[in-house]
Amino acid sequence: MIVFNKITELQNVLFDERKAGHNVGLVPTMGALHEGHASLVRRSVAENDVTVVSVFVNPTQFNDKNDLKNYPRTLEADCKLLEDCGADYVFAPSVEEMYPTPDNRHFEYPPVSTVMEGAHRPGHFNGVCQVVSRLFYIVKPDKAYFGEKDWQQIAVIKAMVKHLCLDVEIVECEIVRDNDGLARSSRNTLLSKDERAIAPNIYKALKDSVSYSKKHTVKETHDKVVGEINSIEGLEVEYFSIVDGNTLLDIDSWSDTDHAVGCITVYCGKTPIRLIDHIKYC
Ligand code: PAF
Repeated sequence: MIVFNKITELQNVLFDERKAGHNVGLVPTMGALHEGHASLVRRSVAENDVTVVSVFVNPTQFNDKNDLKNYPRTLEADCKLLEDCGADYVFAPSVEEMYPTPDNRHFEYPPVSTVMEGAHRPGHFNGVCQVVSRLFYIVKPDKAYFGEKDWQQIAVIKAMVKHLCLDVEIVECEIVRDNDGLARSSRNTLLSKDERAIAPNIYKALKDSVSYSKKHTVKETHDKVVGEINSIEGLEVEYFSIVDGNTLLDIDSWSDTDHAVGCITVYCGKTPIRLIDHIKYC
């Protein structure tokens, strides 16, 4: 495995790989890697001749300076995990290398990029599109792998790929959870012991609501999830939206769609740490 910091150095090896007829898989990450990322990398290694993993904490997608400052950075441990997973190349550029000049492009794909995370984290998806499009231009992957934990992010990236006519297949990979149900996230390392102990209640409430939803309305299901989570000291729901999985618009009735998804964001603890999760109802 080789680690590159410079775009041209990575592009030189990828030029040779392509000349040799090798196809390329890309796993974009912000580092602080865990089993969720490892599963994406293993899948890319299984499906492509060459796997590139980018490790870059992208400043343009953080709408909160403190969040950017506190985001965990663990490049050495990340490289060890990536080597174990069979990655071929790691791309870990500096901010100056990725953005030699400010990126003034503006990406908006309403409603997918403007509801839920788009509404609560202004500018977030614009920054995601800025960096992911740059990574696609640099690496020119045949396939790119994203985790379903960031479910809305995948919908936004797919809209961007269509808009920019990019020739890359977006591969959605299943969410990876700890044994107690908490979705794996780099932010979990920021949780204190007590916060970590209450965090699994988010997925528990979501999971329990699936059977409840069979005999109750969308609103009743919504209110039950929010009430259950908010009743636990240290957890506070920012939003819980039950949406049509295709349009990402709120539904009023289960019969509005055959693909209903509940998307939740919860503040955990005093800092607080912002955790996201989702559940499919049908
Ligand atoms: O999902 C993430 O970790 C990031 O949003 C991504 C896709 C690597 C872009 O910085």
